[in-house]
Amino acid sequence: MVRIWAFFLLFVVFTFNGFSQPNPAQRDSLNRLTQADHQWMMRLLGIESLRPGPSGNPQAPNAANADESKAKTYESVPNPLVLENGKAVKNRTDWENRRSELNELFDREMYGRTPKNLPEVNWERIWEKDTLIGGIEVVYKKMKGIVDNSSFPAISVSIDFEYGVPKNGDKSVPLVMEFGWIWPAGMQRPPAPPGPSWQEQVLTQGWGFGTLIPTSFQADHGAGLRAGIIGLINKGEPRKLDDWGTLKAWAWGAGRALDFLESDSAVDSKRVVIEGLSRYGKAALVTMAYDERFAVGLIGSSGAGGAKLLRRTFGEQVENLASSGEYHWFAPNFISYAGPLTPNDLPVDAHELIALCAPRPVFISVGSPTVEGQWIDAKGMFEAAVLAGPVYELLGKKPLPTHDFPPIQTFLVSGDLAFRQHEGGHTVGPNWPYFIEWARKYLVK
Ligand code: GCU
Repeated sequence: MVRIWAFFLLFVVFTFNGFSQPNPAQRDSLNRLTQADHQWMMRLLGIESLRPGPSGNPQAPNAANADESKAKTYESVPNPLVLENGKAVKNRTDWENRRSELNELFDREMYGRTPKNLPEVNWERIWEKDTLIGGIEVVYKKMKGIVDNSSFPAISVSIDFEYGVPKNGDKSVPLVMEFGWIWPAGMQRPPAPPGPSWQEQVLTQGWGFGTLIPTSFQADHGAGLRAGIIGLINKGEPRKLDDWGTLKAWAWGAGRALDFLESDSAVDSKRVVIEGLSRYGKAALVTMAYDERFAVGLIGSSGAGGAKLLRRTFGEQVENLASSGEYHWFAPNFISYAGPLTPNDLPVDAHELIALCAPRPVFISVGSPTVEGQWIDAKGMFEAAVLAGPVYELLGKKPLPTHDFPPIQTFLVSGDLAFRQHEGGHTVGPNWPYFIEWARKYLVK
């Protein structure tokens, strides 16, 4: 019986892996599988019910708080520069110890543990072409990373990654890697902002661009957890409570794409930027925090689960992240913080995830509250960046230049932590030129 159920599940999950768009009946079935997995995790955790999160609809009676005067001052924000034994972190060696502690806490309580000894990935070239992008000659390649599934052949996993580098550029150029969205069929892409695309903007600098498709190797829903790279490692079984969630899996894929780039002499793998928006902004921050080979991070509207302080009662809350629509991004253990535990019980918070990126430079980007809305909580991300500042300083780097939340469109450019709230919506769009101006300090030799 269990077997039949497992096969049925695998069938459903393979069929709806993020490329083929489910019809309403299929969506229903995906939903049911997600609910079943979420319920099972709650059962393993001994939890009967969770506190519901507020609504993202500002008109709803239970709308998320968007009133600064009602945002409660958070209690118990952990100090990134105090070790668990209460001793202060005074130097780099102490920080390395604290770093390991923070890694362990984030692994166990929030993002889950990336398994050791993950399978090899073999990269195949699907095509390569010379093309023109924004009038610049580009060598453009589409790659597929085939994951060795000899441990469980019923599940196949591959990573889609494509990238372009200026054809007659320097021998080895910096590259900006983006976690790319696949827009569901029938859903409209947000209109492209006027002016050059981000790819054109980075090519103009003589840099390369790359797009990694996270849903090619780990679907973006709970029903997909028994397939993809997470399912392959678990041989199609459900996760354990501290197993990795999709954010960690997506970060793993970015690391494999970087491994591949290390083999291409056209790219300087020591100058690779990771960028993403929203859930992929969260993934970009997790990638930066855990894979120290990424040189620079551009973290777009990452909100809760990304750069926003989870203890701040404004916009999206832990209760939303722990619900069946989003829990798959995290380790099952994280669900507990929506009941019986509270966000104040978290042994870590977002400022410490930013701190794990130190001393490497991070740009935190967000849109306008009137266009993008307040769900993302721009100020909550700013405050987390402020609280990560002392770690940057300890490592001889520059924090944000102010502790006061700046007016929209102020460009905080002088530090190794940068922040800008642009005038647009849920996009990195208007911030690309600012990011490039700031990142030139690190990427131009
Ligand atoms: C939802 C979710 C956010 C997420 C966003 C996105 O709004 O609540 O946490 O960042 O989707 O990825 O677009």
